[in-house]
Amino acid sequence: MSRRDGILRELGLAPIWRLRDRPAEVPVAPVTESIAQPVADDRAAAIAAMGWDELKAAVAGCRACGLCQARKQAVLGVGDVEADWLFVGEGPGAEEDERGEPFVGQAGKLLDAMLAAIDLKRGENVYIGNSVKCRPPKNRTPEPEETATCWPFLERQIELIKPKLIVALGRPAAQTLLQSEVKISASRGRLFDYRGIPVVVTYHPAYLLRNLPDKARAWEDLCFMRRTMQGFRGDQP
Ligand code: URA
Repeated sequence: MSRRDGILRELGLAPIWRLRDRPAEVPVAPVTESIAQPVADDRAAAIAAMGWDELKAAVAGCRACGLCQARKQAVLGVGDVEADWLFVGEGPGAEEDERGEPFVGQAGKLLDAMLAAIDLKRGENVYIGNSVKCRPPKNRTPEPEETATCWPFLERQIELIKPKLIVALGRPAAQTLLQSEVKISASRGRLFDYRGIPVVVTYHPAYLLRNLPDKARAWEDLCFMRRTMQGFRGDQP
């Protein structure tokens, strides 16, 4: 088997479509499902009606899943709340947990460089958020229940920002947004849809720090995103 085939196989997952609102994915108090589901629905409905100030306060005080126990602070996101570009990562790491801003560690430095490569800058027509707002212990990948519990926050952020393009950084973010099993290597260079907003996927910067040869592919992805955005705006190439 070629190296490429080996990597594809290791990452490979066929698309499995799941309903976003499937009741079992929303963790709630450990009581019967018939009582618990309305609690989750009420929470999601309340979040869906929030403005930025309420959202900020709700995220800061959120205790809806176990991730709140070890966090120093929840990290809502950063940037232009009317941005055309929304970048979504996985979840805060140690430095983000400390500083309250997404992507401020090593991966964040690379993300800033990736943005600069296509003439973008953190905070200028760019918003950066995460699938989960609290640091998973030891930077592990968030569990599906944690991502599902945090989803109404990201859902509301997207509704408020109304980006023209969403960039999913890495597989957890892609799976959160697309609600399907996603293989980054097979999904790059394609346009997906989130409620009418185009979504592209690329490698997570932390992955790129460990897999330098894939930086060339990430560059291709950046060019694809830029072309896509230029196409929406009717810019000259
Ligand atoms: N990795 C992420 O996915 N998000 C951050 O905010 C930092 C590192």
